[in-house]
Amino acid sequence: MLRACVIGWPVEHSRSPIIHGYWLARYGIDGAYEKEAVAPEALAEFLATLWRRGYVGANVTLPHKEAALRAARSADEAAMTIGAANTLWLDPDGALHASNTDAYGFMTNLNAEAPQWKEGLGAVMVLGAGGAARAILFGLIEAGATKVLLANRTRSRAETLAAEFGPRVEVVDWEKRSEALSACGLLVNTTSLGMTGQAPLTIDLSALPANAVVADIVYNPLETPLLAAARARGLAAVDGLGMLLHQAVPGFERWFGVRPEVTPELKAHVVATLGAQ
Ligand SMILES: NC(=O)c1ccc[n+]([C@@H]2O[C@H](COP(=O)([O-])OP(=O)(O)OC[C@H]3O[C@@H](n4cnc5c(N)ncnc54)[C@H](OP(=O)(O)O)[C@@H]3O)[C@@H](O)[C@H]2O)c1
Repeated sequence: MLRACVIGWPVEHSRSPIIHGYWLARYGIDGAYEKEAVAPEALAEFLATLWRRGYVGANVTLPHKEAALRAARSADEAAMTIGAANTLWLDPDGALHASNTDAYGFMTNLNAEAPQWKEGLGAVMVLGAGGAARAILFGLIEAGATKVLLANRTRSRAETLAAEFGPRVEVVDWEKRSEALSACGLLVNTTSLGMTGQAPLTIDLSALPANAVVADIVYNPLETPLLAAARARGLAAVDGLGMLLHQAVPGFERWFGVRPEVTPELKAHVVATLGAQ
């Protein structure tokens, strides 16, 4: 039996077991996907003994994503640029390899749900400068975005990211986020605003062009106030759950040998668990 897990601290909230468990049953694979609560001080030892614990690989969630990258023997370009890993696997010699599939997940979902985002693309507005923003910036720039406006409550964090990602990223004052939208064909929220238990994101979408796309990576609730406001204006709206589902695909394929499909049935299965915790 092939076994993988998600490692976090805490880990209870993770939806990964629901996604991978669905695919294991769907494809009739003799495998298991478990939750592992591992304290930060125990992570290095846990990863060094992953194989002995019976695992072929793992997902890594907060707060271990940076430490997991450091622990790996090799990492792909996405993980290196983003500075964090969310997917690990062991090669036949027992060496640990790392990837970050968040950018892949976001871009695959965006391209599937609103492929028009690239047509006549002006600037892209990204809100937030945390861990997720790094993945989104990597994905957008790799996909050809030439101008990304980055606004974050704490401006210095946005400036740090802009310095790392180069001249395509331009920092905009958090207070000017609404007016700067007139030049944008795509708006992406990567802050935690709008999440259940958090304040909603306040932004006036009226300056966005009529063909603009609005994406939120918050997925609980599925329909955030931002997405509801976008739909009310007749704009294309892309939710955060698609990113979560697509980012799981490469790990599952590596560990279990089948490239799984993201389907409406899977989405409905995961949606049914939202709000349950
Ligand atoms: N769909 C997916 O697959 C997926 C993947 C990863 C993350 N996410 C979601 O993305 C969100 C961000 O995750 P993260 O890991 O990037 O978190 P993070 O590193 O903690 O960053 C949080 C971001 O939100 C901003 N923020 C928080 N409270 C704010 C407030 N009251 N006003 C203005 N800005 C505020 C922070 O601004 P400051 O810098 O000023 O603090 C920062 O930019 C979470 O909701 C997470 O669940 C979704």
